[in-house]
Amino acid sequence: MDHPRYPRPVGLGPLAYGGDYNPEQWPEEVWAEDVRLMREAGVTMVSVGIFSWALLEPERGVHEFGWLDRLLDLLHANGIRADLGTPTVVPPAWFYRDHPEALPVTREGHRHAFGSRGAICHSSPAYQAAASAITEQLGRRYGSHPAVALWHVHNEYGVPVSDCYCEESAAHFRRWLGERYGTLKELNCAWGTAFWGQTYTRWDDIQPPRLTPSAGNPAQQLDFARFTNDAILANFKRERDLLHRLAPGIPVTTNFMTALSQCQSIDYWAWGREVDLVSNDHYLVAEDHRTQINLAMAADLTRSVAGGRPWLLLEHSTGAVNWQPRNLAKRPGELARNSLAHVARGSEGAMFFQWRASRYGAEKFHSAMLPHAGTDSRIWREVVALGRDLGALAEIRDSVVRPDAAMLWDWESWWAQRLDWRPSIDLDARERADAWYAATWDAHLTVDFAHPEAELSRYPLVVAPALYLMTEAASRNLRQYVAAGGTLVVSCFSGIVDEHDTVHPGPHPGALRELLGLVVEEFAPLRAGERVALEAADGGPALHADVWTEFLLPEGAETLYRYADGPAAGRPAVTRHAVGGGQVYYVSARLDGEGLSRILQLAAAAADLTLPRLPHDVEVVERVGEHGRYLFAINHGEQDADVPLAAPGTELLTCAEVFDTLTVPAGATRVVRH
Ligand code: GLA
Repeated sequence: MDHPRYPRPVGLGPLAYGGDYNPEQWPEEVWAEDVRLMREAGVTMVSVGIFSWALLEPERGVHEFGWLDRLLDLLHANGIRADLGTPTVVPPAWFYRDHPEALPVTREGHRHAFGSRGAICHSSPAYQAAASAITEQLGRRYGSHPAVALWHVHNEYGVPVSDCYCEESAAHFRRWLGERYGTLKELNCAWGTAFWGQTYTRWDDIQPPRLTPSAGNPAQQLDFARFTNDAILANFKRERDLLHRLAPGIPVTTNFMTALSQCQSIDYWAWGREVDLVSNDHYLVAEDHRTQINLAMAADLTRSVAGGRPWLLLEHSTGAVNWQPRNLAKRPGELARNSLAHVARGSEGAMFFQWRASRYGAEKFHSAMLPHAGTDSRIWREVVALGRDLGALAEIRDSVVRPDAAMLWDWESWWAQRLDWRPSIDLDARERADAWYAATWDAHLTVDFAHPEAELSRYPLVVAPALYLMTEAASRNLRQYVAAGGTLVVSCFSGIVDEHDTVHPGPHPGALRELLGLVVEEFAPLRAGERVALEAADGGPALHADVWTEFLLPEGAETLYRYADGPAAGRPAVTRHAVGGGQVYYVSARLDGEGLSRILQLAAAAADLTLPRLPHDVEVVERVGEHGRYLFAINHGEQDADVPLAAPGTELLTCAEVFDTLTVPAGATRVVRH
């Protein structure tokens, strides 16, 4: 780490509350009304300037900072802090006039056009120079402006385009490969180029994984994914370092999207170490029936990427977004439940996209804090109420979330598993992670996410939902964890390949065979729609699975469930293996939610982890801080619910004293300080 760490967003005061503010879309007379209403809503911080490059620098080297000067002064005069953007996600039209080569090229060879946002080749020296120049201007001008509390570099690196296949990127990729492998011999070996006659004899022959007639080399594709992540991260670091130099003391962030299933190109474990403050954007998948689960997963993953330190929800929505196929409005009270669920899981505030709904442009049907309907609207009333609630929770800042268990997650493994020609297109790493996470949510467990090579000894229970790719270091780490007394649950198709997508030697799963005490003799994927039953060795209720089964040969593991039917009928399906002071469960099928819950119960019992007895739809999370323990209880159900309390305390949103039971009204959130 070559830059100072800031334990918290300096100078934000209470929990951060506000949103993206794009006053450049409005006549200046509207700004005064904006600021008056921000104060009414309890807004503490707004994100500004994220997309304003063309306004700040209308022609190369010609700057117009007057409007931003006036805006920051106005915010400061009203006690509102700024999360100031570097606008490097949208180079202006003049930039592409001179540098059309900086527009990214798709795998198929098509060049993107100007007219949207994020059209960037991250290997382009021209882009890098122009981005540094505007960042430097902003750092010099506003580095000591009293309104600026945080730098917001770029916007959502990784979308809408991350990889670029142009000649510049190809040359950059070759340089990156040169550093990684040193010699072509090493590269040929790592990429397994003996297969399909792909051996390279000159560096210049190596291309990014452009369109090929059949399946491309998987190791080449995996390295290109790593290269892309590194190329983008280098651009973030360049801006960050400039800002650290020009504006010492102001933390630098960039908004992540940790749990977005489309955003696969960023390895947030690597990025979490590089930002001063981890921040995240989260949008509900509106048509899901239990959106609270994906939200909780995003928040837990973000906190974990932040190493358990404070993080900030930089964007979510007050109501509908406008980019999903069917953009459902949030139900009454959902805005507060969503915001407070992020706070419960460690966010130091709740910010939105955006402050005032746009009248024009691509996002005019996106909800906002100040909607098109104005202040006589449900959304506005809920926005004002949430501002009050966050004000009442100010003391929870800097408290940390208390996890019960951990779940292993690795972006590289996800990248590898989604490549072509796997045994079944229906087995999806992200789907398994979501499903296992949902089982932990239903069991009322709070989980941290962890990289498979991370220190795990503080967790009594660790679940590995999908680790197709596993390094030797990860394999060793898991063996040590279990041997030292940990309880590990491993789900199917894990430990199969190494970091080059090369199958570990011997029978599957090479990286886990010894630990699991078994061999996977053959994969046995199912037909679309086919389901199988798993019968319990102890005569208990059967479990059910689809998509995936395996032929297991135990080598020391005990069988807990057997396949009752399907291709592996009669063979072990779920096993347990005692190793040292701990044990490892292996689940060789794609179990449904009920099955996952059952296995989780077994493993939790083995780990001496008592599952809380709480009403089904109530989410309970604890933050622990200097001033006390804070129990968040969010009732997602339609009935009032009672939550047993271990100790009396004060409910911070209603100021009520509570004793052995906390009643949480339907749809409401309560926060008890013990
Ligand atoms: C992302 C972007 C914002 C906006 C929102 C809309 O999070 O960062 O600029 O486009 O999506 O949901």
